Amino acid sequence: MKPIASLLGASLLAATASVALAQDDTPDNIAVAYEEDGRYFTEDDVPTYNVAEDGTIDWPSYSGFRRYHSECHVCHGPEGEGSTYAPALKVSAIDMDYYDFYDVVVNGRQKIDASHQSVMPAFGDNPNVMCYLNDIYVYLKARGTDAIPRGRPGKKEKKSDVIREDENACLG
Ligand code: HEC
Repeated sequence: MKPIASLLGASLLAATASVALAQDDTPDNIAVAYEEDGRYFTEDDVPTYNVAEDGTIDWPSYSGFRRYHSECHVCHGPEGEGSTYAPALKVSAIDMDYYDFYDVVVNGRQKIDASHQSVMPAFGDNPNVMCYLNDIYVYLKARGTDAIPRGRPGKKEKKSDVIREDENACLG
């Protein structure tokens, strides 16, 4: 039993260290560089979330919470936590390049061999996913850093006119 206990201790230490790092030095693929019509972006123009000091979250993250739970959670588990069938997307959204993440959702991906039966469907033709994919992505990034806790988010920004217009145009 002893080795297991000390292993656990070591991984707890490692976890604490990485949390401290995240607070002091938000990774480039998460830190907000600018805001545009209620959407937030990193310095590389990749969508990201924003949580104000009073806990108010950006509209896209709130929208992403809803869309994730209508389109993705059956396989990927509630709140991006993962399941025995599909990976924890709160981790993927941080670790994967934005364009790779996007590509998997548009085109799907499968691993089928003697020991795997793993199918991620292609959603490229599904407006209920594609019109909200950036929202789903930023929500999952916020889950990955725990910036947004589990459960239904509380205070949120208002939906901007531009977001409303873009949504209507996208849904057609
Ligand atoms: C029918 C089940 C199912 C649904 C619904 C589903 N996925 Fe997946 N997804 C999977 C499986 C299984 C994998 C792993 C595929 C593999 O092994 O290559 C996966 C993989 C992924 C990956 C790659 C993750 C990584 O770390 O490599 C992304 C990104 C992803 N899904 C996003 C989504 C999003 C966003 C939604 C909702 C719009 C969604 N998925 C809905 C089953 C699903």
